Amino acid sequence: QSCNIGFVGLGVMGKSLALNLADHGYKVAGFDLDPNKVKDVLDTEQSERRSDISEARIIGCKTLKEMLPKLTTPRVIVLLVPAGEPVDIICRQLIESGLEADDIVVDCGNSQWTDTIRRESEYRGKLKFFGTAVSGGEVGARFGPSLMPGGDADSWKYLQPMWEAVSAKVAEDGSQIIKNIPGDPVTEGEPCTTYLGPNGAGHYVKMVHNGIEYADMQLICEAYHLLRSLLGYEPEEIGKIFEKWNQGELNSYLVEITADILQQYDHATGAPLVDMILDSAGQKGTGRWTSISATQMGVPAGIISESVYARALSTLTQERENASSRLIGDIELGDIDPTAVEEAIKNALYCAKICAYAQGFQIMRAAQEEYNWQFNFSDIAKIWRGGCIIRASFLQKIAIAFTENPNLENLLLADYFADALEHKQKGLRQAVILAAQSGIPTPSFFSALAYFDGYRSEILPANLLQAQRDYFGAHTYERVDAEAGEKFHTFWQEENRPERKV
Ligand code: 6PG
Repeated sequence: QSCNIGFVGLGVMGKSLALNLADHGYKVAGFDLDPNKVKDVLDTEQSERRSDISEARIIGCKTLKEMLPKLTTPRVIVLLVPAGEPVDIICRQLIESGLEADDIVVDCGNSQWTDTIRRESEYRGKLKFFGTAVSGGEVGARFGPSLMPGGDADSWKYLQPMWEAVSAKVAEDGSQIIKNIPGDPVTEGEPCTTYLGPNGAGHYVKMVHNGIEYADMQLICEAYHLLRSLLGYEPEEIGKIFEKWNQGELNSYLVEITADILQQYDHATGAPLVDMILDSAGQKGTGRWTSISATQMGVPAGIISESVYARALSTLTQERENASSRLIGDIELGDIDPTAVEEAIKNALYCAKICAYAQGFQIMRAAQEEYNWQFNFSDIAKIWRGGCIIRASFLQKIAIAFTENPNLENLLLADYFADALEHKQKGLRQAVILAAQSGIPTPSFFSALAYFDGYRSEILPANLLQAQRDYFGAHTYERVDAEAGEKFHTFWQEENRPERKV
C-alpha cells in the first residue's frame, strides 16, 4: 500500500484537503488523535468515490508509526494541527517514529512565519520542514484553495505537482473556475500556487493576505454602516446594493458573501440575521501580526492596523454601551441626495481598497529585504486571484501592474490605480466628511484617505517634528540645503540659537 502523502490532523481543513488530493489521484494516509475524525474522512471518501474507482483513496492509521511505512519516499506529511506548540510536538513524534532527514513535513496551518524560519533550521538533518499556508476556508481546501508555499527549494520539486493539482484554477483573464463536483476536479487554468521562497516566505505572504483580508472586511463593514446610518437603508436593500457593486470593479468574494449575508433573515425572530449577531469581532492574530510586522519595519500600514483596532474596539461592548449615553457626538445632517451618497460610498470603498492592498504589498517589499526573500509580486497577486478569501477581479489589475513594472515603488503609482484614485477620490473624501459630520466611525476610510494624502505630499510637517526632537533631545536633523546624511543640531536654549554640524 504505497500512499503518496500522509495527513496528520483530519479536522475540517485536513479532511477537505485530503479529499481534494484524493480527487486528483493521490493516495492519502490519514491520522488524527481523534479516531472519529479518521472514520469520518474514510466514510466521506467512500460515499463520494466515483463508481469507476474501486479502491479506497484514503486509508486510516491508528498511529504515526503505522503511517510511516505506508508512504512512498521521500515521505511527504502534511500537518493540519493548531498553530504553535502542536506543530513541534508532532515533528518530535514523527522523528521518534522513524522519519528521515529527506522526508518532508509540510505545515499547512496558519503558523507565524518566525516559527517556520526557526523550525526549518531546527529540524534540518532530521526532517525537511516546509511551510504551506492555505487560504479559502473549508470549501477552498476541498475544491481549490490558494496555496502559499515556502521552504527548501528541493522539497518544492516533490510538492509542486500535488499543490498545482489541488489548488484553485483561474482562467487567463483572472476569472475563477469553480470546482464544485466532488470526484470531478477541474484541471484547466493557471494554478493558484507558486513557490514563494525559503523558510517562512509562504507563511509571511499568507499573514499579509490576512492583514489585507482584515482591511478589506472592515472597509466593507464601514461602507455598510454608512449606507445604513446615513441613508437609513435596511440590510436587505444594502445587500442588493452590494450585489450590484459586485458586478463591477468591486467584484470580489468578500463583497459577494456580504451581499448574501445582508439578505438573510433570522429564523427565530424574522429580523435581519445581521441584527441578531453580537457586534463584537473575534480575531486569531494574523491581522495583528501583520500590523506588528509593518510597525517593526517602519512600513506605514495604517488601514490594516485600524482594522485590527476596530475589532478590538468592537469587543468593548459593555463600555460602549455605557459611553453611548454619556458621550454625545452626532449632529443632524441636512438633506442629502441618496443616489449621490451611494455612489460616493462605492467610490470610497474602491479607493480605500486600493490603498489597503498597496499597504500590503509595501509590507512584503520591506520583508523581502529583512528576511532575504525575493518575491515576485505579480505572481503573488496571481495566486490570490482564486481560491483565497481576498480573491477579487482587481487582483488581475495588480498582477498586470507588477508584470509591467516588477520594481513598482507603490501600487498607487501604477497608471491604472493612479487614474482610478484621481477620478474616484472625491467619493472617499465625501464619505469621510459625511462620516465625520454625522459621527459614524469609519476608521479605515479615514486612514485610507490620510495614507493617500500623506503619500502624495511632497512636503509634510515632519520638519517641525524633527525640530521638536532636536529641541528636547538633541536628536539632530538634516538640512534641505546640505548633503544627505549630514546632521545638524541647534542649541535652542542659547542666545542666538547657534546651529552646529555634528
Ligand atoms: C483564509 C482565512 C483563514 C481564517 C482567518 C480568520 O485565508 O482562509 O484567512 O485563514 O479565516 O485566519 O482569521 P480571524 O479569526 O483572525 O478573523
